[in-house]
Amino acid sequence: MAATTDVKKVSILGKESIHCGFHLIPYIVHTVLTELPASTYVLITDSNIAKFYLQAFETEFDSNLSGLSNGSHARPRFLSHIIPPGEMSKSREGKAVLEDFLLLNKCTRDTVILALGGGVVGDLVGFVAATFMRGIRFCQIPTSLLAMVDSSVGGKTAIDTPHGKNLIGAFWQPEFIFIDAALLETLPPREFSNGMAEVVKTAAIWNDSEFNSLEARSAEIFAAIQTPSTNHAGRSEKTRSKAQELLLSVIIGSISVKAHIVTIDPTEKGLRNLVNFGHSIGHAIEAILTPTILHGECVSIGMILEAELSRQMGILSQVSVGRLTRCLKAYNLPVSLNDPRIANLPTSKLITVERLLDIMKVDKKNQGNDKKIVLLSRIGATHEQKASVVPDSLICKTLSDSVTVVPGVPSFNPVKMTTPGSKSISNRALVLAALGSGTCRLKNLLHSDDTQVMMAALNELKGARFEWEDGGETLVVHGGRGSLSVPTKGKELYLGNAGTAARFLTTVCTLVQKSPTDEVETTIITGNARMKQRPIGPLVTALRANGSEIDYLESDGCLPLSIRPNGLKGGTIQLAASVSSQYVSSVLLCAPYANASVTLELIGGQVISQPYIDMTIAMMKTFGIEVTRRTEKGTGKLLDIYDIPKGSYQNPPEYSIESDASSATYPLAIAAITGTSCTIQNIGSSSLQGDARFAQEVLARMGCEVTQTATETTVHGPPIGQLKAVEEIDMEVMTDAFLTATVLAAVATGKTRIIGIANQRVKECNRIRAMIDELVKFGVDTNELDDGLEVIGKPVNELKKGASVHCYDDHRVAMAFSVLASVIPDTILEEKRCVEKTWPNWWDDLQNKIGLEVKGIELSTASVSPSTPFASSKSVVLIGMRGSGKTFIGELAATALQWTFIDADNYFETANEIGVRQFVHDNGWPAFREAETKLLKGLLSEKSQNHVISLGGGIVETPAARDLLKNWVSSGGIVVHVARNIEEVIEYLGLEGSRPAYGEPVSEVFKRRTPWFAECSSHRFINHVEAFAEGKMVVDPADTKRGVRQEVARFFNHITGVSVNLSQNLTPGRRSYFLSLTYPDIMLALPAIEDLSAGVDALEVRVDLLRSKEEVDPQGKHIPSQAYVADQISALRRVTSPPLIFTVRTVSEGGAFPDHALEEAASLLNLAINLGVEYLDVEMRLPEQTIKQLNARKGFTQIIGSWHDWSGRLKWDSFEAQAMYDVAARNSDIVKMVFTASSMQDNFACQTFSTKTNARPSAKPFIAINMGAAGQLSRILNTTFSPVSHPLQPSRAAPGQISFAQVTKALHLIGDLPAKKFYLFGSPIAHSLSPTLHNTAFDILGFPHTYELLETSGIDEDIKNTINSPDFGGASVTIPHKMNIISLLDRLTPAAKAMGAVNTIIPQTEGGSRVLVGDNTDWLGIRGSIATRIAVGQIHAALVIGAGGTARAAIHALSDLGAKVIYVWNRTRSRAEEIRTSNAEANIQVINELGSWPNGTTPPNVVVSTIPASETSLQDEPDRLVYPNSLFAYRDGPAIVLDLAYKPVETPLLKLAKMTASNWDTAQGVEVLLQQGYAQFEKWTNRRCPEGPVSKKVWEVYHSRA
Ligand SMILES: NC(=O)c1ccc[n+]([C@@H]2O[C@H](COP(=O)([O-])OP(=O)(O)OC[C@H]3O[C@@H](n4cnc5c(N)ncnc54)[C@H](O)[C@@H]3O)[C@@H](O)[C@H]2O)c1
Repeated sequence: MAATTDVKKVSILGKESIHCGFHLIPYIVHTVLTELPASTYVLITDSNIAKFYLQAFETEFDSNLSGLSNGSHARPRFLSHIIPPGEMSKSREGKAVLEDFLLLNKCTRDTVILALGGGVVGDLVGFVAATFMRGIRFCQIPTSLLAMVDSSVGGKTAIDTPHGKNLIGAFWQPEFIFIDAALLETLPPREFSNGMAEVVKTAAIWNDSEFNSLEARSAEIFAAIQTPSTNHAGRSEKTRSKAQELLLSVIIGSISVKAHIVTIDPTEKGLRNLVNFGHSIGHAIEAILTPTILHGECVSIGMILEAELSRQMGILSQVSVGRLTRCLKAYNLPVSLNDPRIANLPTSKLITVERLLDIMKVDKKNQGNDKKIVLLSRIGATHEQKASVVPDSLICKTLSDSVTVVPGVPSFNPVKMTTPGSKSISNRALVLAALGSGTCRLKNLLHSDDTQVMMAALNELKGARFEWEDGGETLVVHGGRGSLSVPTKGKELYLGNAGTAARFLTTVCTLVQKSPTDEVETTIITGNARMKQRPIGPLVTALRANGSEIDYLESDGCLPLSIRPNGLKGGTIQLAASVSSQYVSSVLLCAPYANASVTLELIGGQVISQPYIDMTIAMMKTFGIEVTRRTEKGTGKLLDIYDIPKGSYQNPPEYSIESDASSATYPLAIAAITGTSCTIQNIGSSSLQGDARFAQEVLARMGCEVTQTATETTVHGPPIGQLKAVEEIDMEVMTDAFLTATVLAAVATGKTRIIGIANQRVKECNRIRAMIDELVKFGVDTNELDDGLEVIGKPVNELKKGASVHCYDDHRVAMAFSVLASVIPDTILEEKRCVEKTWPNWWDDLQNKIGLEVKGIELSTASVSPSTPFASSKSVVLIGMRGSGKTFIGELAATALQWTFIDADNYFETANEIGVRQFVHDNGWPAFREAETKLLKGLLSEKSQNHVISLGGGIVETPAARDLLKNWVSSGGIVVHVARNIEEVIEYLGLEGSRPAYGEPVSEVFKRRTPWFAECSSHRFINHVEAFAEGKMVVDPADTKRGVRQEVARFFNHITGVSVNLSQNLTPGRRSYFLSLTYPDIMLALPAIEDLSAGVDALEVRVDLLRSKEEVDPQGKHIPSQAYVADQISALRRVTSPPLIFTVRTVSEGGAFPDHALEEAASLLNLAINLGVEYLDVEMRLPEQTIKQLNARKGFTQIIGSWHDWSGRLKWDSFEAQAMYDVAARNSDIVKMVFTASSMQDNFACQTFSTKTNARPSAKPFIAINMGAAGQLSRILNTTFSPVSHPLQPSRAAPGQISFAQVTKALHLIGDLPAKKFYLFGSPIAHSLSPTLHNTAFDILGFPHTYELLETSGIDEDIKNTINSPDFGGASVTIPHKMNIISLLDRLTPAAKAMGAVNTIIPQTEGGSRVLVGDNTDWLGIRGSIATRIAVGQIHAALVIGAGGTARAAIHALSDLGAKVIYVWNRTRSRAEEIRTSNAEANIQVINELGSWPNGTTPPNVVVSTIPASETSLQDEPDRLVYPNSLFAYRDGPAIVLDLAYKPVETPLLKLAKMTASNWDTAQGVEVLLQQGYAQFEKWTNRRCPEGPVSKKVWEVYHSRA
């Protein structure tokens, strides 16, 4: 059988050891057995390959070996061993496994190993062979294309270590390399492309003609591996197909080059470095992206970047870069890091210029610190016969995404240059030559995305054949005479964002004729997302009307289109030509091939861009078809009707494409703006292009000297700063040049009005908007017009430096702003690569031909999340509509912060000695606004610290005041917009008249100011009072009022950092949880919010699930409005204070927010920061810019950087998981990673990953969980912010989510939460409510603990044993042990010390041993009961009745609340005096008579009684204390009386308060008991007590006993 095999042999190192052919297995076995006699043959392969080929080898060996006589020796053995596929096998461990296999099988030195596999098997097995028994023979049988053309040839063998790839290895030459190309038929296509990268590389450095063939024949080469060869076809030359011949020649061609180079330089001393082209940068990329992105894919990008480097150095032409790019793309290889396959990877965020340069330091080619890179000089040749030294600065420039131009005088002044071929002419010429008959050589063709897309599409339609000549300077088009076919199945014409191609090809596709062999019925044209928004409607309408069958596959009026192959009918075609002249050109170009001659009538008003139509007609004439434009009889006036005869284009042998006139505007404009001179060759007055008029019609009018011959244009600019504005210029005939004119107008003296360019709104981007938005960054004002814009010029030195220009992926925006950058320092042009469309080497030409230095800038440097800022004492400014509650909120805020409140109106009156109203009356509004602004300036400098400043509603009316506010924000200050529903404002203002009236409807004022308030503020406080769900009020207004007070305190304390509202349980060693609220309307959750939030540390608002009634969308995907979200958050805030997590979960991460709505997501996340939300979930898949921006302004909001994988693809032990963690850790305060579990094992992997990562120094809090039922264990084990659900909720936020109580129970079951016993020590305690309180709470939260009574009259053995028992969880202590117990404790808290009494024992572990801590929460109970009714700092005076332990607690609480004076009354005065002396720092006054206060003082607004109610009365009774009415003399505001007695339900004191004073609130002892119990509970368990349900239960029991 082997005899019928034809192999081609390639020699390496003087030996013909590379044998190539098809279906070689019998040949290989035969050759090995005859040429390499051995005792043992060991075949090693991976499991993927074994599946296909191992059996064939086994059978072949068995049959050959069985035939061998065994003579005196044992018959040779055949052994095989299978390793796991993938790079992981290429390790020290993998090597050891193989060695053990060989040793175990007693393999000796005469063993021959066969490495059957890709590069992994080849490298590993080769290295084993090199060292086993000091080296044994081996053969390479590569199965992947990469291994065939690269890794198997040259004798390099190696394994990887965690320090890097291929770091340990040897040169060890195989005896034979058998290349069986039939093995490629099972190779996955992506692996084939991976290998093609190396093939393309080899041709690029060595062999031009080989490259030509690769470039032209990609489809055939792919076909060769995609069509299975049956019956061993190809084994002999006779049976070999054309495709097989081609494939083999490609492989052999590549191998031969490598073999040649290896033979000259076997150990990589110089020449062999050439095969490293693309690898210096490629390897660095691979180091970051491996294993997700394959070696060849990284090298492909590396080749382009290294080619660009060469171009930048003036060594390589753009033509070659373009060809290389197109060729790699043809093999489905990525050519830029922006390729979606890479840009969408989490790891791609780790690619930074700095990191790449750092990795490149470790490269065997380098000379010390100098990096060496293989520089291409043309396709098929390198600059040197080795790698060349390249400075880091140049590499950095190539790698960076953005550039900056160093302003100055162009060093090549006077500049003389040509610009790239015109895009319009290139595209037209391509269509004409492709449709024509004969061969046409196109010269100066633009090598750009547009032309490339056009060529690829024409190729796909089999409309023409293309070839390159002169190293790619000339494109040879073999015309197809208008014969076109439907592309093959599965192929769509993908046009990216190439507008011209889309327009032209739409009509071209209608020319396609049906053929019986067509597999598909229609031609589909599609493009990228932006392309799918650009209009094509008028053209499609016209073609449809003419009988073509065209369908829109997505949105009407846009691509993608499906076009039936019916040919173009012809006759009269009516076309609306007011949007794009390209529609007209499209029809004109194809019209000769219609079935009948065409009369094209342009309708629908003014025809746009006539010069482009004229250009098409002129070019058609050159290709032999004459179009006639009709004229009006009599007048001779030109009509918009064209007659096109039937016919076929005759290709001229050569057609030279004019340079691009739009591109020429940039160098000319640089001459204009820098006061220098520039000549553009190849464009003059005879040009076909409208933009050729730019010099005469724009630059000359702006003050430049312009000379134009038929073929050349020269511009000499006036001295810098002397360009003149053009009052009005209609640029309709040169629309593309308007961007250039706009940037010049920005520095011209006066206002320039540019019109006639409305169509520029539907180009690559909305260009008018883009120019306006970007000019703002330079401080240049503009006005948008219906069909253009006005630019108000400014002197050059007044433009802002350092603007970072977003280019909208639009080449013209980038190039136009580079003109401005040539005079404005530090301007950054983002997305430098967008110039590829028309002038790919613009930045190189700017430096190398014009002489302005261009530097690389990296925008995406690792966005390190700033750590939480320090608390700021910078004053807070409040703005908002009059009547929005600024004063009310401001006073509360000042109280909460303990800062000073200033009302600017009052301040104004004091400062100006005149009321605001009067001032306006006397001086008018403008004068008032001026004075107000001045006052604001003064306030911000004089009261810059520790003030809350409320400003007048109209402050935002003047730009100067707005600037002051914006500056305040940008310098780290806080400006809060107090927002209130406008109806409420109007109602409120109706009642109020002390301030000047508006003189216009309030709603108008509101409309005007709203955007200003937003623009000037950093935060927003929503101040409406009601919360409605389904039209019903859901929260008691009294609760809301209290809620507002609490919320003001929380909001201002948090945003200033004075007291942040973050969870304490995020520290190591503690557990924290959050509840996901999954309601469409959170109001529905409010009544049960207490129950829902039991146990958790935070509440997550799933913003993506919010839906207002009006916004309900059956599709599920939806974007809630900002207003609705803000209302929801503020309503929630009024009833509950745990920190919120604000989450906008996208569809691809398991939520409902549309993935593509990136801007909307960013604005919602920004809204959350404005609303003072504590935690912000930011998906790490969001654009880098958004993540950076949020980090930059987050203040005290913490960012949770999250990743969610639903596919189950991601594994915790993968490199990717590590990279994802690193990305999130860099960009956030808390890391969240959620994968999907398929087995229990995944939970252990998750746990191992998080334990390892948490052990890192300064590790961030880390949420690591698995979704799905199989992942529940991970939710239990996770310690940080475990998401939990609640049975009361309508739905769970994610599959596998369990409730807090379930988690607690589970933790107990797995032994992580032992059951503890808690006690009450005291006597008598039989009726205590404490057991009810604590046991209810334990039960609700799922804790296994119990709370019981331990009644003893003294501190006895019982108590001692109890507190020393290991299951002792803690105790409450009451009368009579509060003081005596202290002797048993190790330590007291400051509060317990201050009161000299303990009511709570907390066992704690300190330094490894258990200590008992005595605390006192009685005072917290009292404090809590008062603070919910009266704000801190609002207690003028308080009265405490009694002088026992509880009175001490009351005094402690009152001083903490800032009571200005505390009166104490006690029957025995001396005990009251004792209290006074032991609380020296509080202002205590002992009084003799209850109800009488020192003269001239305000009576107390807080009264606390600590004596038993049974000893008091309202009437004169013996031995009873009688309360006088005067206790409640205070009537001016909120006041509270607290009776600490439990019985009766209404004590005499409370009764008296209710009878005498309506402003007095009352609170019973049970409330204090509850409050102190909550505090106790939290201290014992680190969990907030579920107050709502617990208090309900306690009150129930209390009332049932009363
Ligand atoms: N020694 C050198 O000079 C040199 C040069 C380049 C690359 N390398 C090394 O080569 C390795 C990469 O080689 P690779 O790309 O071949 O990777 P590989 O060996 O991992 O093969 C790629 C994948 O394709 C599968 N596969 C291979 N052939 C197949 C076939 N015929 N049918 C079905 N599946 C098939 C493999 O099982 C694997 O999953 C890297 O480790 C790299 O460092 C070495």
